[in-house]
Amino acid sequence: MLDIEKYLKETKKEIEEYMSSFFPPDMVPHPLGEAMRYALLNGGKRVRAILAITIGRGLQGQDSNILPFAAALEMIHAYSLVHDDLPAMDNDDYRRGQLTTHKKFGEAMGILTGDALLTHAFWVIAGRTQEPTIIPDLVRILALDAGIEGMVAGQVADVLAERQKKANEILKPQSTDAELLEYIHRNKTMALILAACEGGAVTALATKEVREQIAEYGRKIGLAFQIVDDVLDVEGTEQAMGKKVHKDSALGKLTYPGLWGLEKSKAIAAQLLAEACQIVAHLPCAEHLAALARFIVARTY
Ligand code: IPE
Ligand code: IPE
Ligand code: MG
Ligand code: MG
Ligand code: MG
Repeated sequence: MLDIEKYLKETKKEIEEYMSSFFPPDMVPHPLGEAMRYALLNGGKRVRAILAITIGRGLQGQDSNILPFAAALEMIHAYSLVHDDLPAMDNDDYRRGQLTTHKKFGEAMGILTGDALLTHAFWVIAGRTQEPTIIPDLVRILALDAGIEGMVAGQVADVLAERQKKANEILKPQSTDAELLEYIHRNKTMALILAACEGGAVTALATKEVREQIAEYGRKIGLAFQIVDDVLDVEGTEQAMGKKVHKDSALGKLTYPGLWGLEKSKAIAAQLLAEACQIVAHLPCAEHLAALARFIVARTY
């Protein structure tokens, strides 16, 4: 049987070693290199990279196509965290068990470090992917899911909702709070996890049918991921999470536990997990994908 803890640990180590090769200690300007390494290489579960690697390898893809994409995902994710923690956004002092990037290096460096990680992610795909025919597809998926059809759009809705803008002002005239919550979670978090899964399938040149099944799995676990993040903000510990807890209610965030209560939120996550496993049950990487989905829903950090 698959030892998921061991698998997560080993794959995390692999992607971290790969990513560190892009940021040698003698990089100039030195403070930028230092801040990029601090934001990218100090901790993190690496869930997005591990999903892409598991799917890419599970569908017989080559590491020379999978690893650049997996690294790009983690670079974009790290940038999103650096900016999410800025005083103008969630104003957080701790991330991954250490001071946030702007607390350590100053606000201007926080903004610029995020910018650099985002921009360089696309260089890694363009400059390091071995099979040139898949590059446009990978860039398209990431640019949309991390941008105006995904993460950035979700973060915009998240901060506007926190600032008391109503659902009908942010979305459409008839929109409800429940629809706004769904929109925020699907965009700010689900979209990049969907990109990890779909892009993973692209790195293995999967058929259209398999690619769509993998994408649907990604949508389910991507939404579950943010529901669990909300639940852990209520029930988790700062020590395990490496970031402050009980901050969503303090900021007046629209969250699953806030709108539906803890029990219903957990039940929805469990349902999404079951559906996700079902969708990929017939694929060669089914056991790993089921184990990753279970980890996402059962995690305590
Ligand atoms: C935290 O993401 C932000 C969300 C999108 C919920 P992760 O929980 O994946 O953070 P790291 O990468 O493990 O630190
Ligand atoms: C962050 O959501 C989603 C991102 C795109 C970064 P949160 O604001 O809930 O993430 P945490 O709880 O600070 O990690
Ligand atoms: Mg946030
Ligand atoms: Mg936050
Ligand atoms: Mg959160």
